[in-house]
Amino acid sequence: MPLSDCKIIELPKKTDMRGNLTFVESNNQIPFDIKRVYYLYDVPGGADRGEHAHYDLHQFMISMSGSFDVTLSDGYEQKTFHLNRSYYGLYICPMMWRYLDNFSSGSVCMVLASMPYTEDDYIRDKSEFLRLVKG
Ligand code: TYD
Repeated sequence: MPLSDCKIIELPKKTDMRGNLTFVESNNQIPFDIKRVYYLYDVPGGADRGEHAHYDLHQFMISMSGSFDVTLSDGYEQKTFHLNRSYYGLYICPMMWRYLDNFSSGSVCMVLASMPYTEDDYIRDKSEFLRLVKG
């Protein structure tokens, strides 16, 4: 899948003097069924995460607090997205190499995922990923 399939999606925001509210529904704001939610937190300064791709997994990443960068590569080009608001997120399609860095202190990265966790879906070797996408 090309990198252009991955994009920032702005979510609905119910602005309210009592506090704002944002929601996400399967196959509505995001193009897949949500089967799993996980989050990264307590990320130490200077740490990075990711460095892998997935065969079939679709994901949607939201910064629930603070900020971080997500760099995506389809094997041909790469793009870095800065996530720093809880009312938008980054849709990541399958077969996309990613790494996350520049986590601000106290940041929380929530990920909505299209499948339960399985290590079989991971490609953790960059050269294997490049072989798969370049044929
Ligand atoms: P990993 O996906 O490699 O982390 P990241 O891409 O955020 O750097 O996962 C780290 C560890 O957590 C690895 O041992 C697999 C495990 N894990 C689960 O057990 N369930 C999950 O839903 C996820 C995302 C990871």
